[in-house]
Amino acid sequence: MAPSLEAVQLTKNFGSFTAVSGLDLKVQGTKCVGFLGPNGAGKTTTMKMFTGLIAATSGSALINGVDVSKDKKSALASCATLIETPEIYSSLTPKEALSMICEIRGVPKAERGKRIDEALGLVKMTEWENKRVGSFSKGMKQRVNVASTLLSDPEVIILDEPSTGLDPRGMSEVRSIVKSLSDRLVFMSSHLLAEVTEVCQEVALVDHGKLLVYDTLENVTARFSGGGGSVQVGFSRMVDEETASKVSKLQGVQGVTRSNDRHLIVRFDPKAVSQDKLFEGVAGLKAGAVSFEQASGLEDAYLSLIKETL
Ligand SMILES: Nc1ncnc2c1ncn2[C@@H]1O[C@H](COP(=O)(O)OP(=O)(O)O)[C@@H](O)[C@H]1O
Ligand SMILES: [Mg+2]
Repeated sequence: MAPSLEAVQLTKNFGSFTAVSGLDLKVQGTKCVGFLGPNGAGKTTTMKMFTGLIAATSGSALINGVDVSKDKKSALASCATLIETPEIYSSLTPKEALSMICEIRGVPKAERGKRIDEALGLVKMTEWENKRVGSFSKGMKQRVNVASTLLSDPEVIILDEPSTGLDPRGMSEVRSIVKSLSDRLVFMSSHLLAEVTEVCQEVALVDHGKLLVYDTLENVTARFSGGGGSVQVGFSRMVDEETASKVSKLQGVQGVTRSNDRHLIVRFDPKAVSQDKLFEGVAGLKAGAVSFEQASGLEDAYLSLIKETL
């Protein structure tokens, strides 16, 4: 049977606050599904329920049809996760770190060497396998983290914002690894549209703990884009909160979100402001804007579905 992840009315309350609200979602097959939503949407909380790190308040999470709360061990047998990026001891080499993880996970001794070699090969770290992790870039460390999820040869891989905190090169390395895992079911959260567009075939969009839509990238784009105008503004440096907030206050702007560290997607009402006036407004902020172009369909759809952003 094709690998699957399923949430049935999955709900998590923290006191009186509902972080995940009656989530119904079933993803199945070998593909990469993006779990997209702004910060605080409930992505990590959902993923923690899938991996049994926290208990659901109500509803259930199933991996390959097995309820995580009822039989965690067999539910997780074919699933690996990377949630809230763990630190690797800097004095260890990738080989040593992965051996330790194999031991903890109970990978049979006879298989460990082969599994470790394969995993390091997949993330292209073989060359570095005997160097100390302490000297690695964040991107290289994250590649070792991804390798650790591959040790048990999982059918289902849950990755929580795997490229967050990495520099552009590290991000691109992690993305190309995720793309190479196409023979498994990868469920990857992100708040970056460009990342999801590049890596995923399908997207589940959440906000305020609720599922807004789950469909193929093309269908989401076709169903929800259109109407208003959207542009992507590129900056010469990382966009800070202050800049984003100033852009969101320009005349005619309806919503602003991040496409990646250096790009904002700006949705505007064409009746209230023309594209060239908006361009002047953005340039007038003197915030380092260097490019201005039509946004893609997914960006447009995202902004029309998610009203308040940043
Ligand atoms: N342990 C916790 N206690 C209280 N509130 C929490 C806890 N974990 C998460 N939250 C809240 O739940 C919401 C969703 O968080 P999270 O799942 O981390 O969002 P995301 O991963 O989409 O950014 C946030 O408002 C967050 O502050
Ligand atoms: Mg999160």
